[in-house]
Amino acid sequence: MALLDIVGLRVETPGTDGAPLPLVDGVTLTLERGGSLGLVGESGCGKSLTALAAIGLLPPGLRTRGRLALDGEDLVEAPERRLRQIRGRRLAMVFQEPMTALNPVRTIGSQVAEGPRRHLGLTRRQAREHARAVLDRVGLDPTRFPPTLYPHQLSGGQRQRVVIAIAVACGPEVLIADEPTTALDVATQARILDLINDLVDERDMALLMISHDLGVIAETAPRLSVMYAGRVVESGPTARVLAAPYHPYTRGLLGALPRGRGRPGAPLAAIPGVVPAPDRRPPGCAFTDRCPRSDTACRIAPALVADAHGQAVACHHPHDPEDGAP
Ligand SMILES: Nc1ncnc2c1ncn2[C@@H]1O[C@H](COP(=O)(O)OP(=O)(O)OP(=O)(O)O)[C@@H](O)[C@H]1O
Ligand code: SF4
Ligand SMILES: [Mg+2]
Repeated sequence: MALLDIVGLRVETPGTDGAPLPLVDGVTLTLERGGSLGLVGESGCGKSLTALAAIGLLPPGLRTRGRLALDGEDLVEAPERRLRQIRGRRLAMVFQEPMTALNPVRTIGSQVAEGPRRHLGLTRRQAREHARAVLDRVGLDPTRFPPTLYPHQLSGGQRQRVVIAIAVACGPEVLIADEPTTALDVATQARILDLINDLVDERDMALLMISHDLGVIAETAPRLSVMYAGRVVESGPTARVLAAPYHPYTRGLLGALPRGRGRPGAPLAAIPGVVPAPDRRPPGCAFTDRCPRSDTACRIAPALVADAHGQAVACHHPHDPEDGAP
């Protein structure tokens, strides 16, 4: 059984006509115990809403439908009291912007100690010791960065280390990292990614790494799913998808048109336009307005179909890796 099983996930908001408007529209993702999965896509594709739905922290007014289960336990219908027990203890999240995840008026030590006190039943003193050790493990040596510091006394990279310490303090089985390095400079990004990868290996956590940057995913996850306009359009082993993407959008993410000139993380030079807003998605395939291969068949939404290697694509005219056509 998958550790985190997301099947046909929809996140809906009330539309202007009263009918529910899907922001995330039928996403299926599977995270095995100790495995890593990358989720990639441009801004507005629904990556964060997928993660927030998984951890039960959607903004008010949004509704989750579909299946969401942790180790077989349904999370969609679970009461908030049960979700609070799971969140932080079994499922934890690292957010993009460390300052929004930290309380500016509490010391870093007390913020890291809070989860272990609540979830692990530690005394105040034990939790303080535990927090010190976790902060040390994430690279904040207590002799230089005492737990009595406040977030504003740290750099952006150091604050992100505190956020990671809070996330891993109770030994979660699943870590969701939503663009954990986007707000950081390039050198700090690399160090924080290394830290996350090391912690995931050492603690045998399952990782859902979210990024708009295929380069980040390539470094962290052996499997990936590509999202576009609320749906998964391609998924499979990262090496295969990067070497021979089927979906025109994945090729755009790679900057692979013309072939060979792109590199992971390059801007979408090959594909003009932007992701349509949820209430402006074209019927059928939502990529149709930007796609060089679009034709009348694309007025019907394509299903996600897998090949023999587990690389799946939702496209009526996927690229054939054997032929060099655009
Ligand atoms: N509370 C909300 N109410 C209505 N629409 C929302 C809400 N939150 C997000 N959306 C819309 O849902 C879509 C997906 O948003 P989401 O934040 O999941 O995108 P993302 O892929 O994480 O983008 P980014 O890379 O910018 O973080 C966007 O079009 C966004 O405007
Ligand atoms: S289904 Fe059609 S419009 Fe959509 S990506 Fe494939 S070829 Fe392009
Ligand atoms: Mg986001």
